[in-house]
Amino acid sequence: MDRVKVGVLISGRGSNLQALIDAAAAPDYPAEIALVISNIPEVYGLERARAAGIETATLPHNNYPDRATFEQALAHALREAGCEIVCLAGFMRVLGGAFVAQWPNRMLNVHPSLLPSFKGLHTQRKALEAGVTLAGCSVHIVTPDLDDGPILAQAAVPVLPGDTEDSLSARILEQEHRIYPAALAWLASGQVRIEGRRAILDNADRQPEALVMPPV
Ligand code: GAR
Repeated sequence: MDRVKVGVLISGRGSNLQALIDAAAAPDYPAEIALVISNIPEVYGLERARAAGIETATLPHNNYPDRATFEQALAHALREAGCEIVCLAGFMRVLGGAFVAQWPNRMLNVHPSLLPSFKGLHTQRKALEAGVTLAGCSVHIVTPDLDDGPILAQAAVPVLPGDTEDSLSARILEQEHRIYPAALAWLASGQVRIEGRRAILDNADRQPEALVMPPV
């Protein structure tokens, strides 16, 4: 089986990266991680990649005169490694339109909210402050707009009495680790069709909107 090469961009501990690495270890998983790039030196996610024998690169954004030059370097590294899909996994830089346009409908992001609620930073704090009773996470196709783009998978978790940002984040993160590998598999195996703002799953008897995976 030809596996689609994926580049994963990280900025930190890389627990979502680990979930993708673990999923890709299965022989029938349709994607392989060809390269992991961090914009922050020496983060734990890079160690996870090395431990799995995956090529890594560190491209500190501060080393570049502007965003365009940084993104050109990122794109160059991803192309050199043959990456056909790009996964953002805790990558904390906004990517410009020129970069995103190079992987049209082939770039995924995981965000710790039920989008379109609570885009941007401090997501779980915003959810607690808003008093919502359900929180969750989303995997979506990346467009030039922040935390926007067609949604491939979402999982909901309850907000419990006494929750802190940390406890809620941990509950959500568990679900991120479930939906991200699933969403990447759908994209890599060619099951995803984009219609306007919506992602449609071909060859499946369910729509992405229905893919809520509550804790079991
Ligand atoms: C995850 O919760 C991810 O959803 C979030 O950062 C964390 C990274 O954790 N991403 C964003 O907020 C992007 N808008 P990880 O490094 O352990 O995967």
